[in-house]
Amino acid sequence: MKPKLINLAVFASGRGSNFSAIAKAIKQGKLNVELKVLVCDKPEARVVKRAKSAGVRVVLARREDFCSRPDFETAIIQKLIDYRIDLIALAGFMRLLSPVFVKRYRNRILNIHPSLLPAFKGAHAIKDAFDSKVKVTGVTVHFVDEEVDHGPVILQQEVKIRNTDTLASLEKKIHSVEHKLYPKAIKLVIGKI
Ligand code: GRF
Repeated sequence: MKPKLINLAVFASGRGSNFSAIAKAIKQGKLNVELKVLVCDKPEARVVKRAKSAGVRVVLARREDFCSRPDFETAIIQKLIDYRIDLIALAGFMRLLSPVFVKRYRNRILNIHPSLLPAFKGAHAIKDAFDSKVKVTGVTVHFVDEEVDHGPVILQQEVKIRNTDTLASLEKKIHSVEHKLYPKAIKLVIGKI
């Protein structure tokens, strides 16, 4: 019997370069999953356009349209059930998932963070590493647990900060590492599902 194809949902709120990197890896046959849906909380985000041009269905869920976080998450979970989602990849999704959500999809939610966790948690990890003058930072893909930027590490890759680097050049290096590391980490995880 053929193994079941894993159904993936990507959650994103912004630019969507990691979304595109994942979609590209799938298209090139490097990642054997079905990218079923983009879940986005910002209708104006660039990732929405990227999903549409890649032919990926978009679920828009604006937090402001729901009375409470449980209502917001219940609506998203219903979509995940409808599309039989097995695995969730957070890629710049700027909302915290509740412990109830995390528990329901334990070991099925991945996140990418632009630092070597546990160093430089938070929304400004690249700038924080640059300003702190460390010589090495990097990228982490991890399982999501109830804490922010925390949970079992799946893959990490170092990125050196040279004396000649600017914040912009460091951001560029980090993002290009992210675009390779995320598909690799997803591949590792699906091999174990
Ligand atoms: C990435 O740097 C990722 O590590 C962080 O959010 C950023 C998303 O970038 N969690 P993009 O929207 O995928 O371009």
